[in-house]
Parts: sequence; C-alpha cells; structure tokens
Amino acid sequence: MSPMSRADKPVRIGMLGCGVVGSEVARLLLADTEELSTRAGVKIELAAIAVRTIKPHEGINPAIFTTDPYSIVNDPEIDLIVEVMGGIEPAYELALLAIQNRKSIVTANKALLASHGAELFTAAYAQGEDIYYEASVAGAIPIIRPLRDSLVGDFVIRVMGIVNGTTNYILTKMHEDNKEFAVALKEAQDLGYAEADPTADVEGFDAAAKAAILSGLAFHTRVTVSDVYREGISQITLDDVQLAKSLGYVIKLLAIAELTPKDEISVRVHPVMLEKAHPLASVRDAFNAVFVEAESAGPLMFYGRGAGGAPTASAILGDILAVSRHIAHNSVGQRETDYADRDIAPIETTKTKFLIRLEVQDKSGVLAAIAQVFATQGVSIQTVDQNGRDADAELIIVTHLATEGELKATVDALKKMDIVSKVSSVIRVEGASA
Ligand SMILES: NC(=O)c1ccc[n+]([C@@H]2O[C@H](COP(=O)([O-])OP(=O)(O)OC[C@H]3O[C@@H](n4cnc5c(N)ncnc54)[C@H](OP(=O)(O)O)[C@@H]3O)[C@@H](O)[C@H]2O)c1
Repeated sequence: MSPMSRADKPVRIGMLGCGVVGSEVARLLLADTEELSTRAGVKIELAAIAVRTIKPHEGINPAIFTTDPYSIVNDPEIDLIVEVMGGIEPAYELALLAIQNRKSIVTANKALLASHGAELFTAAYAQGEDIYYEASVAGAIPIIRPLRDSLVGDFVIRVMGIVNGTTNYILTKMHEDNKEFAVALKEAQDLGYAEADPTADVEGFDAAAKAAILSGLAFHTRVTVSDVYREGISQITLDDVQLAKSLGYVIKLLAIAELTPKDEISVRVHPVMLEKAHPLASVRDAFNAVFVEAESAGPLMFYGRGAGGAPTASAILGDILAVSRHIAHNSVGQRETDYADRDIAPIETTKTKFLIRLEVQDKSGVLAAIAQVFATQGVSIQTVDQNGRDADAELIIVTHLATEGELKATVDALKKMDIVSKVSSVIRVEGASA
C-alpha cells in the first residue's frame, strides 16, 4: 500500500483497559483528536476499548466498550493496540495475537516486557510491526526513545535511575521529616502513591522490571527481570537515614545497569547511600529520574513524573502518534537489538563501596581485630568513625571498592566475632567520588 493511499484512511486504535492510565489516554485523545491527527499526519480514531466491567466514562461513546478483548485483537479493522490492562496474562496472549494479526502495539506494561519482551519483539519484527513502550519505565519521562533512538549511535556505559516514585517518596519523608519507614509508608498509601499491598514497590520488584528493560536497551542484549539482583528498602531504618545525612549522603533506591571490565552487564536494584553532590540525590518525593552515561555524550539526566494517569498517558500518546505515522507510511521505527548478547555479571563480582555499621565491645584492641578481618578478606577500609554507646561502641566503616563476594565474606566473619554484638546495617555507597 502506498503512503498516499493510506493517508485518507484513519488509524483505528483498540485499547485494552480503561483504568487509571487508559481513561486518561482516552480523555486526552478524544479532547484533541483533530490536532493530534494533524501532528501524526494521519487521522487517529479510538475505535474500541476492552474492560472487565463496563461502566460509564464521561465523554466516551459507550458503544465502543466491550468485555471481550479478543474481539479487538482479532478485528481486521483495528490497526493499533494500546495495552493498558497490566499484568502478564492475558496481556501477553493478547499482544502476541495482535502482532500475529498484523497490528502494532503501544504498551505501558513493564511486567510484561521484563518477562516476555524477547518473544514479543521477535514476533513484532517478523511481522514488520512496532512495539512502543515509553510509558513502561518512569511514566512521563522520555527515556526509552532516548536510549533506543537518540543514543543508538553512542555507547552507553551506565544507567542509574530512581524509577519507583513510591519508595522515593518514603525515603524523602524519612530523610526530610525524620519519619519512621512505617509512618512514611502509611502516608504514601493515604496519598495513593502506594498500593494496599506495597510489596512490589518497597521490595524493589517494580524497579527490577524497569532495570531489566533499561539495561537490555542500553547494552543491546535481552535482559529479563530474573537477571536483576534485587533488594528493597524495608530494612532501611530512620537511624540509617540520619547517619547518611550526617555523613553528607542521601539514601535512595537505585536501579543500576552498567558494563563491567569483563564487558558483562551488572544489573541490580538496591538502596544506596548517594553523595549529595550527585544529580540523582536532589530527586525528591514521588519524582523519578534516570542518569545515563555514554561514551561520547557524557552524562545525561532525565527527570519528571514517573506515574499517574495523565503523565503516563502523555508518554502513551507520544507513542500512539509515532506508531500511527509509521502505519500511515507503511514503515516501522528504530528497533531494539540484542546482537551484543552480553553475559549478566554474577552479583558476587560487582564492585561497590560499602558502609557497615557495627556494634562492638568498647575495649582496647577491638579496632585492630576488626581491621584484621577486613584485611584478610581483601577489603580495604577508607574511613572509620566511632561513637561511644555505654559499654558498647558503634563503628561506622566505609570501604574502598570491594566485590559483593568479598564484602559478604567479611560480614560473615564479623558476625562470628565475640567482640561484635551486632552488624546493624550494610549499605552500598555511590556518588560523584564513589
Ligand atoms: N498507574 C500508573 O501510574 C502507571 C504508570 C506507568 C505504567 N503503568 C502501567 O499501565 C498499566 C495499567 O495500569 P493502571 O494503573 O491504569 O491499571 P488499572 O487502573 O488497574 O486499570 C486496568 C484496566 O484494565 C482492565 N482489565 C484488566 N484485566 C482485564 C481483562 N482481563 N480483560 C479486560 N479488561 C481488563 C480493567 O478493567 P475494569 O476497569 O473493568 O476492572 C481496567 O480498566 C499497567 O501495566 C501499569 O503497570 C501504570
């Protein structure tokens, strides 16, 4: 079909889901259909919406709703599927079926892409269809296309992001208002930032799915969520946060993906003590940000709202217009590539600086004995601070770069020492000079 013949025919959109995100996509699309069509260079039409239970949506023609999503993906008159239903099944089956039926996909579903991205991309490219997913990582923030399109001529070294607004909100409240974790979590739930079951956010599962997507794109390799090392923030205490503050750090939950000296991908999600001078340290409340370092571009920072109906819908509309334009011109956009096929570095080999808090007996020779344990495991100490605590003392040790394996062996040995009453915390340290 020539581009000219298609231009008069609208691109017909079928949307799967009409919840927090989908209802905003519909609202924004219907409010400015004509102008958005002009920008896309082709008429765009919201033709069908699937939900579980049909209820009235202001401004949306009730006749376009259905409870049968398969009727949409099997409809030959639908060109583009916008998947905003979430979850893995039936979203995966529906997306695959849609691709087999020669439809392009726009999705916000990080869980789906972080588990089944490879199968979906392979199927879409075999059929000559697009999969666009800007909204799946960091909501409104353009980060997928910058990595996939703008930086495709560069070599990314590292991607480091605050990609979960709920945990960033909780940590901000702990840091700035001295709130305990449980109090800050309750506040996040009351504000609608956190789910009733906050596990996916606070234990880092949500961030891990996003880390898989970002690292795959950045390093031209298929990365799934099971490749991502993950720790959440539920073990972080107000004491840790206050200590970090006193030492010139903030505690953030970071998704980090970087190339190791062996050209493997180290991809992980965990809390870190981040130097205040780092650009990510000033990202507060529920905001997200992604910091990218590339060989030629140098450092880049992307900042904005990582969730919410309208911000997420903004990213989806951008994708809808881009894909509609491709459909109108019978073309496709830049694709993800997996040619590099890099290995994932085992977490034990990842090198970081660490802060370790220890409660020890306050008597002579303790420091020397502790230092000996570090030396035996090959972990070199950068600083030691000591606070008296009755009969005990608290030691705060910051290491030079050490592997996770060396650090774990050190902590295991410390725990066995009679003079150590408790290893209170072990937190990784990142930052401008880390
Ligand atoms: N919310 C955010 O801020 C945000 C940000 C970025 C990305 N995302 C992603 O966007 C997607 C949607 O999130 P959301 O917050 O909009 O979810 P949501 O409010 O729970 O909406 C889900 C929608 O999908 C429909 N649905 C679910 N399963 C269905 C099925 N089997 N058949 C037909 N319809 C079905 C639901 O129908 P009913 O209304 O009838 O239940 C509802 O309309 C998820 O992948 C999420 O990870 C969300």
